[in-house]
Amino acid sequence: MGAENGDCRRSLQDRKPRYAAPRQAPGYRMTAAPPIVRTVAELRAAVAKARGDGLGVGLVPTMGSLHEGHLSLCRLAAQHTPFVVVSIFVNPTQFAPHEDLATYPRDEAADVAKLAATGAVKLVYAPTPAAMYPEGFATSIMPKGVAEGLETDFRPHFFAGVATVVAKLFTQVAPDVAVFGEKDYQQLQVIKQLVRDLDLPIAIVAGETLREPDGLALSSRNAYLDPRARAIAGRLNVIMRSTAASVAQGHDIGLSVKVGHDELRKAGFETVDYLEVRDAATLKPVTDRSRKMRILAAVRIGKTRLIDNMAV
Ligand code: PAJ
Repeated sequence: MGAENGDCRRSLQDRKPRYAAPRQAPGYRMTAAPPIVRTVAELRAAVAKARGDGLGVGLVPTMGSLHEGHLSLCRLAAQHTPFVVVSIFVNPTQFAPHEDLATYPRDEAADVAKLAATGAVKLVYAPTPAAMYPEGFATSIMPKGVAEGLETDFRPHFFAGVATVVAKLFTQVAPDVAVFGEKDYQQLQVIKQLVRDLDLPIAIVAGETLREPDGLALSSRNAYLDPRARAIAGRLNVIMRSTAASVAQGHDIGLSVKVGHDELRKAGFETVDYLEVRDAATLKPVTDRSRKMRILAAVRIGKTRLIDNMAV
C-alpha cells in the first residue's frame, strides 16, 4: 500500500468518534482476537503475567489449519485452566523429506479468527522455524515403548519430531495442563509416556475425536480430498467400527482384522498401511482380551494419508 493510501486511512480513523461501540450482527458475540507472540521471550513474559495474576496455564499444541476438532480441545482446556495458550507451528522435524511440509495448509489469520470466536483462548504462540530451531540446534528426543510400531513402521522419523517439539513447547510454556486429541491416539500415548519419563509436572488431558456427519474424523489433511476420494474416506470409520464390533463380540482378532483389511481395499483405499487391534494402554498386540483394546488404522487414497482409531 502506498503512503498516500496509508495517510488517507489514518485521517479517516482519526475522524471516527472514539466512543463508537463496534457494530454487532444480531446473535453474534464479538470476541477480541487473542494476542500473538512469536518468540520464547514474549511468550514467557505473557505467561509470567498470567501467573502473576494467579491464573493457571493450559496449552493446546497445533499445526494450525484449525477445524472444530482443534477448537473443541481449546474449549476443553478452558474448562481446566483460565489462561489457555494455543501454539501454531508446522513442525518441520516431524515431516520426512518426501512428505507434505511445503504444501501443508496454512492460514494464520483464519486460525486466529476461529480461536477468537471460541472465547476460550488467551494467547496464540506462533513461532517461526528459526525461533524454534535456531542455528546449531542439535538435540532430539527419541521415544521408544508406545512409539514403536504402527505409525513408526511407516513414518520412522515422526515421533522423534513430535516428542522433541512438544518437549520444547512444554518447557517454553510450562503449562499446568496440556490437551491432545484421541484422533492421534499413538501420539497421545507417546506424550503421556514423555511426561512420565521426564517427570514433567503437566497433566495431560485427552479430547475425543470430532467427526463429519458420515463419521470421517476431522483433519486438516481432509482438504486434500477430491469428491471421489472424500466419498471413499467416509468408509474408513464405518469399516473400523464393524471390525471393532466383531472383536468385541469375541471373534478371532486376526480373522476380524483380515476381513476389515479386505473391505478397506474393496472400498477404494489404495494402500492400507495398517489396521490393528492393540492393547489400549501399551499399544502392544493383544494378549489379554479382558484389558481395554483399541483399533487403529492408517490408509492412503492417492497422496492423502488418513489415520483413525476407536475403542473396541
Ligand atoms: P495437529 O494435527 O494440528 O493436531 C493438533 C491437535 O488436534 C492434536 O492433539 C490432535 O490429536 C488434535 N485433533 C486433530 N484432529 C482432531 C479431531 N478430529 N478431533 C479432536 N482432536 C483432533 O498433532 C499435531 O498437530 C502435531 O503432531 C503436534 C502435537 C502439534 C506437534 O507438532
